[in-house]
Amino acid sequence: MKASKRILGAAIGAVLMGTVSAYADTIKVGIIGPFSGPFALQGKNFQAGVEAYMALNGKSVKGHDIEVIYRDLPAANPAQSRALAQELVVKEKVQYLGGVYFTPDAMAITPLLKQANTPLVIFNAATSAIMNQSPLVVRTSFTTAQTTSPLGKIAIDRGVKKVISAVSDYGPGVDAEAAFKKAFEAAGGQVVEAIRMPLNTNDFSPIMQRVRDSGAEAVFAFLPSGPTTLGFVKAYNETGLKQAGIKFFAPGDLTQESDLPALGDGALGLLTTFHYAVSHDSPENKKFVEAATKAVGGADQLSFPSVGAYDGMHVIYKMIEATDGKQDAQKAVDAVKGLSWTSPRGPVSIDAETRHITENIYLREVVKGPDGKTTNKEIQTFPNQKDPGLATQ
Ligand code: PHB
Repeated sequence: MKASKRILGAAIGAVLMGTVSAYADTIKVGIIGPFSGPFALQGKNFQAGVEAYMALNGKSVKGHDIEVIYRDLPAANPAQSRALAQELVVKEKVQYLGGVYFTPDAMAITPLLKQANTPLVIFNAATSAIMNQSPLVVRTSFTTAQTTSPLGKIAIDRGVKKVISAVSDYGPGVDAEAAFKKAFEAAGGQVVEAIRMPLNTNDFSPIMQRVRDSGAEAVFAFLPSGPTTLGFVKAYNETGLKQAGIKFFAPGDLTQESDLPALGDGALGLLTTFHYAVSHDSPENKKFVEAATKAVGGADQLSFPSVGAYDGMHVIYKMIEATDGKQDAQKAVDAVKGLSWTSPRGPVSIDAETRHITENIYLREVVKGPDGKTTNKEIQTFPNQKDPGLATQ
């Protein structure tokens, strides 16, 4: 009795002195994403990326078992996002937070991180300014400024001088609008009108009418991937703009692979810029696509949030390795500053200053493959792009 009490006392003392991890030998990772509702496929892709990473790299780091806990946030809802993050930290005692599809949800979590001593690894939310909210945020997705900037010159090179922009009226849309305008006007073009659409817009025919009436030669658009993008591209295809010769430029959110079957041949020829295409030709991507397709439950379901999640898990594993399982958010984040690796999307690194991912941006065209299925085919590479949205802030 006495001896066991002494051993218990020593164990508690060790915990208090920080010589052993305060959280047994299982490290918990909390992932927030849309796992139900209209954006459920995007969340399913988060999960596929996480599961693919763990299937290919093991479920423990330096002897610490990794347990992933998912929380469902079906739509942009900052109050619910904050509540879920709080519950994961306080009740579940997660040491890492990850995921987060929509920008407002990421913004709502950042004020909690310091007190919670918890890093947040963003798998998707793509507004530049999120990184300025907390030094404990790392991002493995993209920003709309980063994916959009090459499009200005691409449009000019295709003989387009006048563009109308149409973006969802929130962070990543506003960033995309500004980045496109800057790049396009620097290359000699003119944005003749800038439309901002409420996030819940689902009837796009009035927008297409405005595009037609504007006299622009092309439309530049950004909406968050999901039913929104499918509706927008369908409206572009079906209201005669394409037939009228009005060109289309957008980041790859608008032609995500999981939307392509529903868009059919109408999508052929669409040009987009993005950090990842499921068709990317590399050994790393081949392995990833095989594992992630198994996890997501079908080839037509795989899309870009899976690669943000896969690389996000890589970053979290490196953080756990560097801290040897102890909860030290700043040390964990510092350990991945400057980290570089070969992602399924190509070579990437975490910018030491901004904590945002540096990556290739590819120009892609929707083409029909030999199997009769449409895909995004990479036709040009803009190597090692940082986030220009952050660089100018
Ligand atoms: C965002 O809310 O930051 C967001 C969501 C979906 C996207 C891109 C950005 O496809």
